[in-house]
Amino acid sequence: MNRRAIGVFDSGLGGLTVLKEIIRHLPGENTIYLGDTARVPYGIRSPEVIVRYSFENTGFLMSREIKLLVIACNTASAISLEKIRESVDIDVIGVIGPGARAALRATKTGRVGVIGTETTIKSGAYARTMKSLDPGVEIFTQACPLFVPLVEEGWVDNQVALLTAEKYLHPLKKHDIDTLVLGCTHYPLLKKTISKVMGKKVILIDSGAETAREISGLLQEKGLLNPEGGSEREFYSTDAPQKFKFLGSRFLGPDALIQDVKLTEVWNEARWKKK
Ligand code: DGL
Repeated sequence: MNRRAIGVFDSGLGGLTVLKEIIRHLPGENTIYLGDTARVPYGIRSPEVIVRYSFENTGFLMSREIKLLVIACNTASAISLEKIRESVDIDVIGVIGPGARAALRATKTGRVGVIGTETTIKSGAYARTMKSLDPGVEIFTQACPLFVPLVEEGWVDNQVALLTAEKYLHPLKKHDIDTLVLGCTHYPLLKKTISKVMGKKVILIDSGAETAREISGLLQEKGLLNPEGGSEREFYSTDAPQKFKFLGSRFLGPDALIQDVKLTEVWNEARWKKK
C-alpha cells in the first residue's frame, strides 16, 4: 500500500492536526506520518539544522515510495520547502503557501497578523509569500514560543493559556488586524483562547486545514487519487512511540486512529535518489 500513500512529516505530534484535516478531506487515502519526536522542537533551531532534519525525514518517507510529500511543520516548511522540492521527483506541499493564500482571500482590510515559532517568524516566509501575491497587504507578526509547550501539556483553555495569549497577542490587537494566520501546527488547539483574546471579528486561518484542501485539489487535478479507496494509516516516531500514541489523540481527535507507532531512526535510513 505504501507506494500509493501520502507521506507527512512534522517535528513531532503537532503535524497530526494537519493529518486530521487530510483525513477529513481525503478519507480514502493511505497515509504515512513521521513525527521527529527525538528532535522536537524545531522552532528554536537554526535554519541549517532544520534543513538537515528535513532532508533526513524526507529520505525516510521517500524510501517508502510515497506519491506526495506533505511538510506539515510550519518551521520546516518555512526553511526547507524549496530545497526539498528541488531534490525529489514527487510533489511537495508545505503549509505556508496554503495558509498565506487563505489569509489573502479572507482579509477585507489588508491588515493581516501571523503568529508562529521564533524560526518561522524570523524567516519571514509567510510575509514574503503574501507580499508576492498582494504587495499592498500589511503584515504584522509575533512569535509565540510558549504556545507549543502549553498545547503539549494540554493547557489550551485555562488561565495560564489565556494570560499567555493576552501577553503575546496584545501588540497584534493594537495593529487592528482583521485576519490572523495560525502559523504553527499546535495553534489550532488554542483557537478558542486566541479567539477570546482577539475578538470574534478577527478571522483565524488554520494553515493545516487550508493545506488539506489544496492537497485534495492537487491529487484530483493530477489523477493521483487512490482508486481503491483504502485508508491505511502508518505512524512512525523517532522517540517514545508509546507517548506518541498516548498524546497523539489530543491532536488527531478522540476517535484515535493511531493503532500502532513504530520507532525509527531517520538519520540511519538509506538515502534516496532522484530518478
Ligand atoms: N511543528 C512546529 C511548527 O509548526 C511546532 C513545534 C516545533 O517547534 O517543532 O512550527
